[in-house]
Amino acid sequence: MATMVNGQKRVGLAADRRHSFYGRDIVSVKQFSREDLTYIFGVANEMRSIVRRVGTTDLLKGYVLANLFYEPSTRTSSSFIAAMVRLGGSVIPIHGVQYSSVSKGESLPDTIRTLESYADVIVLRHPEVGASEVAARYASKPVISAGDGVGEHPTQGLLDLYTIYSELGTIDGLHVAMVGDLKNGRTVHSLARLLRLYDTTLTMVSPDILRLPEENKQELIAAGRTVHETDSVDDVIESADVLYVTRVQKERFADLREYEAVKDCYEITPALMARAKERMALMHPLPRVGEIHYDVDDDPRAAYFRQMENGMYIRMALLAAVLGKA
Ligand code: CP
Repeated sequence: MATMVNGQKRVGLAADRRHSFYGRDIVSVKQFSREDLTYIFGVANEMRSIVRRVGTTDLLKGYVLANLFYEPSTRTSSSFIAAMVRLGGSVIPIHGVQYSSVSKGESLPDTIRTLESYADVIVLRHPEVGASEVAARYASKPVISAGDGVGEHPTQGLLDLYTIYSELGTIDGLHVAMVGDLKNGRTVHSLARLLRLYDTTLTMVSPDILRLPEENKQELIAAGRTVHETDSVDDVIESADVLYVTRVQKERFADLREYEAVKDCYEITPALMARAKERMALMHPLPRVGEIHYDVDDDPRAAYFRQMENGMYIRMALLAAVLGKA
């Protein structure tokens, strides 16, 4: 369980990686080093092995997770629940905040203070950028962001990177093409931030109005990465080692006419995949709404369902790590 030391949440007192995660909030991937990522991926490998061998463990028996979602979710919410249950812990699920005291006007800090009275760790999805950081400031227990508006989705970034490594055996040296709504896609922002730690070349494929925010682009350039921008998948399909496709996020558009103009801008079809490398990974954070045709699903390079499963192993690893049990 997390404790307070000199008014701060407890972080590692030893150089041991395990200790460096204990009691820590996870609100942005900016907080991770390559060594952190190697450590978490190693724990995720162990979690995968446990689940495949025996299904569950009692590593977090007696611990409680508060799963607080102010925005819709299928994968993130259910994989956090599955992760906690497979580790032997319990969950307080709050997935319809309209049925909680949020609908009576309760503030985020008060909701967080309430939940940390009952739980040992809080997972939060919220529509406002920075909400997880606010929650973490008020909580003495670890807060893990499950996505904050158009900001970041750090656990998705981790599972995406873990998937690239699992599929291709390396991250260094890869050409990663990110396709679709790069402006509003929080998974894109987190993954791009993680890729800056590796020797990668990136191509950002989007319509003009959905380009990667300048802040994210400049971070990549400052880290020494080469960043290309184009509006055509044709420019990358033959050279990409990873094609990371995203949905155009209707819910982020103030003017739905703008959404209609770009919603079908990219479609990954079997004919397009026939031009891609034999060894590459086609990824998508999901949900998809037409960007990848269903008849691509049987292609061995289609990694998005394995990517989704990896989310549970990464979240098991993170829960165990922040609770000092990894
Ligand atoms: N990838 C992802 O965040 O999916 P959900 O919105 O279903 O959680």
